[in-house]
Amino acid sequence: MKLHLDNTASVCDTATECLVIPVFEDGIGKDSAAAVDEASGGRLSAMLKNGDIPAKVGKTTLLHRFAGVAADRLLVVGMGKQEKLTTARFRRACLAAGKVLRDAPLRHCLVCLHELEIEGASRHEALRQAAMAVHGGNYLYTVTKQLKDDSPAPLESATFRAGPELQPALDEGAAFAAGFEKAKMLSDLPPNICTPTYLAHEAEKIKRAYDNVELEVLEESTMAELGMDALLGVSRGSANDAKLIVLRYEGAAENRAPIALVGKGITFDSGGLSLKSGENMMQMKYDMCGAAGVIGAFVTCAQLQLPINVICVVAAVENMPDGDAYRPGDVLTSMSGKTIEVLNTDAEGRLVLCDAITYCERFKPEFVIDVATLTGACVVALGHHASGLMSNDDELADALLRAGETVADRAWRLPIWEEYQAQLDTPFADMKNIGGMPAGVLTAGCFLARFAEDLRWAHIDVAGSAWKWGGNEGATGRPAGLLAQFLIDQAGDG
Ligand code: BES
Ligand code: MN
Ligand code: ZN
Repeated sequence: MKLHLDNTASVCDTATECLVIPVFEDGIGKDSAAAVDEASGGRLSAMLKNGDIPAKVGKTTLLHRFAGVAADRLLVVGMGKQEKLTTARFRRACLAAGKVLRDAPLRHCLVCLHELEIEGASRHEALRQAAMAVHGGNYLYTVTKQLKDDSPAPLESATFRAGPELQPALDEGAAFAAGFEKAKMLSDLPPNICTPTYLAHEAEKIKRAYDNVELEVLEESTMAELGMDALLGVSRGSANDAKLIVLRYEGAAENRAPIALVGKGITFDSGGLSLKSGENMMQMKYDMCGAAGVIGAFVTCAQLQLPINVICVVAAVENMPDGDAYRPGDVLTSMSGKTIEVLNTDAEGRLVLCDAITYCERFKPEFVIDVATLTGACVVALGHHASGLMSNDDELADALLRAGETVADRAWRLPIWEEYQAQLDTPFADMKNIGGMPAGVLTAGCFLARFAEDLRWAHIDVAGSAWKWGGNEGATGRPAGLLAQFLIDQAGDG
C-alpha cells in the first residue's frame, strides 16, 4: 500500500473515493472536519449531536454523497472525548478506520485523521501514527487464501492531507508500517511453510534489499562446534534443521557498539515429548512471533537508514516429539558452559534463547534485547494489551517502556529479583528449565538473566500481545513498533 501527502486543493472540492475525518464526542474538530461541517450547512455537527454519528473511540460511520463534499464517501471516525485523547486511543481509532477502508469497495482515500490535538504528541507524531495505523488496518493475509472476485480488496493507496513539511513523518510511518507488515505476514504463515529454512530465506531477501545489511546463517553443524547444545537439544526431534540467523545492519561507524535484538523463532511448538493438548497446540505457529517482531524492527531500521549498528539474531527451531527428541530429565550443556536439567520439553524457548544470547557476546553489544512468546503465565499476568518487560538495567528498561508508550505498543515492567532464582535450583544441574507454578513469567525471565549477567539486557515476553487470540484476526506485529522506536531514540541520542 502506498502512502502520499497532499493539501493543495480544498478538502471539500477534492475528488476521492473516500474522505476520512475525525470527530469528538464533545464536538467536531478543526481543519477538514470543520470545513465539511460548514460545507454541509451544519449537517455533520447536527448528526453528531442527535446521535446518528457515534463518536466513541473507534466507532465509524460511512456516509455516501455527503452534502457539500465532492468525495464519493465520507468516513467519520470517532475519537472519544477531546481531552482524553491519548496516542493509544488515537491508534485504536485509526486502526478501526483502516479496517473499514480495507473492507469497503474502494482503492484510494484522503485521510485527515491526524488533524487534531493528542495529549503529549505533535502533529508530526499524529500523522506518523495515523499512517502506521491506517496501513496496519488495511493488512490482509493472502498468501494461502485467494481474494474472491466479489470480495472488496484492500486499499492501494492513502493520501494524507498535509504539506511537504510532514514528509519525514509520513516516511517514518511508512517504515514502521513496513516493519509491522513483515512481522505480521511471517507470523500468520502456517508452520508447514514458515520453517527455519523459510525464515533464513526471508533474511536473505532483506539482506539483498539493502547495501549495508550482511547475513550469516549458522547451520546445526556450526552450532554444534560452538557448543549450543541447549538450542540443538530442542531441535533434535524435528525433521526441519535449526538455523541461527544473524542479520547485521551497519548504519554507523564500525566502532560504535551494536544493539542486538534476539528473537525466539520456534516455527512450531508442539511441546515436544511434554506434548501440548490439542487446544493449546492449535495456535503454536505463532511461537516465532518474537523472531517476526525483531525482523520487523530491523526492516524499519534499514528502511530509515538509522545512524546506528544493529544485529538481529533469530533462533529458528522447531520443537517436535520424536524417537530422537530430547527428554524430560535430560541435562544439556549450554554454550555458556552452564548445565540445564530439562524437566519439561515445552519450556523450550528459554533453551534456544540462552544460547542465542551467549552468541551475542562476541559482538560486544551495547544492549541485548530478546523477544519471545515465552510463557502462558505472561498472558495470565498482563493479558493481551501489554507485553511483559524484564531487565537487569533500569536505564534500558525505561527507554523501552518510553518507546512503547510513544508508539502505543506498550510494555509493562515485571520484577526479576534474585529471590525468584531459587525456584530454578536442582540437585542435578546448574539450573532446571522450569520454576513451577508461582510467577511463571518471572522465572522464565530469571532463567534468561543467568545468561546475561555481563550484558545490559532486557527480555520482552509477547505471548499475549503478538497475536489476537481465539478469533480470526491474526498477528499484531508487536513489538516491532516498540523496538523500532527504541532504535530511533538510540540513533537520536548519538
Ligand atoms: N510458547 C509457549 C508459551 C505460550 C503459551 C505462548 C501460550 C503463547 C501462548 C512456551 O514454549 C511454553 O510452552 N511455555 C510453557 C512453560 C512451562 C512448561 C514452564 C507454558 O507457558 O506453559
Ligand atoms: Mn513450549
Ligand atoms: Zn514455545
